[in-house]
Amino acid sequence: MSISKICCIGAGYVGGPTMAIIAKQCPHIRVTVVDLNEARIAAWNDPDVEKIPVYEPGLSAVVAEARGRNLFFSTDVESAIEDAELIFISVNTPTKTYGAGKGQAADLKWIELCARQIARVAKSDKIIVEKSTLPVRTASALKDILQNTGNGVNFRILSNPEFLAEGTAVEDLFEPDRVLIGGDQSEEGREAIEALVEIYANWVPRERILTTNIWSSELSKLTANAYLAQRVSSINSLSELCEYTEADINEVARAIGTDSRIGPKFLKASVGFGGSCFQKDILNLVYIARSYGLTEVADYWEQVIIMNDHQKRRFANKIIQKLYNTVNGKKIAFLGWAFKKDTNDTRESAAIYVADHLLHEQANIAVYDPKVTEQQVLTDMDYLDTRSPEENRKLIKTYQDPYEACKDAHAIAILTEWDEFKSYDWKRIYDNMLKPANIFDGRNLLDKAALQQIGFKVWAIGS
Ligand code: NAD
Ligand code: UGA
Repeated sequence: MSISKICCIGAGYVGGPTMAIIAKQCPHIRVTVVDLNEARIAAWNDPDVEKIPVYEPGLSAVVAEARGRNLFFSTDVESAIEDAELIFISVNTPTKTYGAGKGQAADLKWIELCARQIARVAKSDKIIVEKSTLPVRTASALKDILQNTGNGVNFRILSNPEFLAEGTAVEDLFEPDRVLIGGDQSEEGREAIEALVEIYANWVPRERILTTNIWSSELSKLTANAYLAQRVSSINSLSELCEYTEADINEVARAIGTDSRIGPKFLKASVGFGGSCFQKDILNLVYIARSYGLTEVADYWEQVIIMNDHQKRRFANKIIQKLYNTVNGKKIAFLGWAFKKDTNDTRESAAIYVADHLLHEQANIAVYDPKVTEQQVLTDMDYLDTRSPEENRKLIKTYQDPYEACKDAHAIAILTEWDEFKSYDWKRIYDNMLKPANIFDGRNLLDKAALQQIGFKVWAIGS
């Protein structure tokens, strides 16, 4: 079976980039990405390709090449479903904020809506691919809905979780460590798996395309994120110990990471991990383990989140403590708001929680981020719902110019590891700050000794 028409439901951080790469690498396949969010689709279709809604290095060039040729963005979900032979579901699966499993389980309402819509609209057989990150065994619920509410057409369900990281999405998609495809082990199931393998094989070496049963695939996605996040929490836990013992976390990380069994990646101590997925996926894993009565397993993974919350709070408390236990009315400049560099995504960014903590102490926060808008910063704070929107607007200001953000500040906090911060004129920044001038480097990004030479008091994570 050879696929020539694909639809992807969900034009977000995964659906948009993933489909853009498939379209670029497979000019013979027509790829339509649909979303209910009209503003988002309009932005994907913006004639100025730099205005697409997801900022990722290299993405605009890929979109510019494929858009209008075999890559289309549309709000007409039904037609796209009807036309496609293979449908990726790439909608959001956030943590539930209500009812059973509130605060832990994944909210699958958007997944179910997609399934019901596909079942209603489809008039020919289709392969349905879970691209969203889902709890293990979701495919059986999907199958139930599709088969019991459909028009008698045949649906085959695959799991094909996405492993791209934001900021490096384009290179991750062009050269993935692996592509994972899970499906039924029946003859029909294997045929569907092969159809999807054939698409990726247009640019991914076959030995990097792993095929498994559907449950292994679903569970591997949650656990891959849990493992990565666990490494960050592990190194962050040691960063606190370093601060008490005069060991330096960067030296410890290098010493540990040169052991080839451990490896050097994901050993960067930080103010805490953010992003839309690590926390949500671990909470989901914890919820699933508890639902099977596996208390020790659940407690083990929950500790990764507890450590991360501690790290964010600890960073904020350090700022307060070093500013003589009061930040009331003091200007604190935040360099960076995105959850990591090279993305405009701010979901679950540590900056949000550090800001919230400081605002409880009535600090004034001045934010500069090269890719995050003022509106996004305020939306993030309003969403927390810990103070009124008016108060947020009174206490938080955003700046287009980092030097202005830092002017007359008592302290600077580095929240995102943007490369440009390293090449600032730090002497000029120092001269325009209130003294003593403090830098709280939540990313271990800057040259501590050089800053101390200028006169800054520097507090870096883990050293
Ligand atoms: P997102 O919120 O950026 O995008 C999801 C999109 O789906 C939204 O634009 C929303 O409007 C749309 N949508 C929701 N329901 C719809 C419906 N019924 N019909 C049409 N459109 C609908 O989310 P995302 O970051 O792209 O994540 C999507 C999934 O991929 C999640 O399950 C996430 O866990 C997973 N994932 C994300 C990343 C990442 O880096 N962001 C990486 C790997 C996996
Ligand atoms: C992560 C995974 O890396 C992807 O494989 C996965 O597909 C994705 O989640 C997902 O499912 O959404 P992402 O969250 O985009 O990708 O970015 P990461 O590079 O993993 O960083 C996550 C957070 O951990 C960031 O806040 C980052 O600054 C922090 N981090 C990462 C550290 O603090 N230290 C490190 O050493 C590495």
